[in-house]
Amino acid sequence: MGSLITLGSFTVKRVKYSRILLKISGEVLTGEREYGIDPKVIQQIAQEIKEVKGLGAEIAIVIGGGNIFRGVAGSSKGMDRVSADYMGMLATVLNALALQDALEKIGVQTRVQTAIEMREIAEPYIRRKAIRHLEKGRVVIFAGGTGNPYFTTDTTASLRAMEIGAHVILKGTKVDGVYDSDPFRNPKAKKFEELTYLEVLKKRFKVMDATAISLCMDHQIPIIVFNLRRKGNIKRVVLGGKVGTQVKG
Ligand code: GTP
Repeated sequence: MGSLITLGSFTVKRVKYSRILLKISGEVLTGEREYGIDPKVIQQIAQEIKEVKGLGAEIAIVIGGGNIFRGVAGSSKGMDRVSADYMGMLATVLNALALQDALEKIGVQTRVQTAIEMREIAEPYIRRKAIRHLEKGRVVIFAGGTGNPYFTTDTTASLRAMEIGAHVILKGTKVDGVYDSDPFRNPKAKKFEELTYLEVLKKRFKVMDATAISLCMDHQIPIIVFNLRRKGNIKRVVLGGKVGTQVKG
């Protein structure tokens, strides 16, 4: 748990993870809609990020685009896979700009960096600059995936987490963690508190794709899968509370 430290007459909670990579799936942003961005959801997430920043954590974010366009879905309907993936990457930029706007409206400084250069819109991804922004207390939002087709935004999260030296990947989803079967279809589905990377790979649990998991396994970055829709959850996780499912070595 996040222990308490005393600074003069103040007692503050100490975060368990001081540099985090928060992965936000595009689907979470739809809220009650079928697609697109629900402003209430994005404002709630922004508010929670602000609170976590207030605890002293450095926050980088990788955002998905599935609420707008999914590359895999496009290609399954006959589109060229590479073009479909590029459309998916552009969708992540829309979400990143929406989140940036929501954060800046409540006074949180941010920088968006894109993996595909579009300098009129945002900074290009530069690792050292991203780290500098984090050190200066800005929230850095990585958009455009890895910039390459065939790679998911989960893989982007693993890659960026390693590059910036994040201590943990927080994967925010619509469910409370990883289950042995689909909790939306099976009310008796059992939630795991902990799993190893190898268990996830062998049993093909839908935590992240195999490339993303392998990267985390090779570099021993823990992943916490948790429900981003439950209020206060990001803070609970960062303070070390038992939330969601933890995947580690
Ligand atoms: P420090 O000087 O290190 O504190 O960082 P900074 O981001 O404040 O400085 P910089 O002069 O790089 O950026 C000033 C503003 O311009 C920030 O809002 C950046 O996000 C933005 N910016 C920097 N480079 C680019 C770029 O290539 N494209 C776009 N669109 N904006 C940029």
